[in-house]
Amino acid sequence: MIQTTDLLKMKQNQDKIVMITAYDYPSAKLAEKAGVDVILVGDSLGMVVLGYDSTIPVTLEDMIHHTRAVKRGAKETFIITDMPFLTYHLSVKDTLLNAGKLIQEAGAHAVKLEGADDVIEHIAALTSAGIPSCAHLGLTPQTVGILGGYKVQGKDAVAAKKLLEDAKKCEAAGAFALLLECVPRQLAAEVSQVLSIPVIGIGAGADVDAQVLVYHDILGYGVERVAKFVKQYQSIDNQILDAIKAYAVDVRTSQFPEERHSFTMKEEELNALYG
Ligand code: KIV
Ligand code: NA
Repeated sequence: MIQTTDLLKMKQNQDKIVMITAYDYPSAKLAEKAGVDVILVGDSLGMVVLGYDSTIPVTLEDMIHHTRAVKRGAKETFIITDMPFLTYHLSVKDTLLNAGKLIQEAGAHAVKLEGADDVIEHIAALTSAGIPSCAHLGLTPQTVGILGGYKVQGKDAVAAKKLLEDAKKCEAAGAFALLLECVPRQLAAEVSQVLSIPVIGIGAGADVDAQVLVYHDILGYGVERVAKFVKQYQSIDNQILDAIKAYAVDVRTSQFPEERHSFTMKEEELNALYG
């Protein structure tokens, strides 16, 4: 299985790192079978599998529950789990206990935290405690209320400079990787150049060390709108719809179940039953 040190080597060798989200047993099983390098149990699960309209309502218990399922499906893949809203902003002790649950109880190999500033000391504490952490800058969905929507970040020079400085602080605090979401590709390229840890992009252009996309987005599975940065490789909603509709027709027209789907009793048992 890939470790954080292997990811660093992959960056050094300029081998691109493949990451995808997964939220349950079947998605994890297929991601592992497809040979991805890293699985992210993202708090995007709040939107794509739980139907919330943001990641804010997602709880630590939700993340533990889904990480466990992912772990059962992908025993040989490096798993990063998102720390959800407000689970790493109180005391450092709370952060360690919460991250500890994701690692110890749920089986994640690493955690991911959004933001810099006050979050830096939490990254440092996790590192000291032996918990690998991935930083997440740019568009940070847990602070959508302050960002005022899901918008590209770091477009002007001032914001770009702050992001670059924040990225360096995350690395200095011991983050093993940095995820950049929705930032101009030139800025992401610069951050990847300047940092020695792998930079994972989503909507961050091609010049980063790794790419991540949301499972349901690449499959066209239950998502109404996809962002500009998504490449959709399938549209499985249509296949699922067709299958369920065909099943409904079969039931209503008594075409299902057929003989081959049914169990039978022996004649003599039937005779004994009815005497
Ligand atoms: O929750 C999530 O899926 C993420 C993405 C940036 C991939 O954090
Ligand atoms: Na997330």
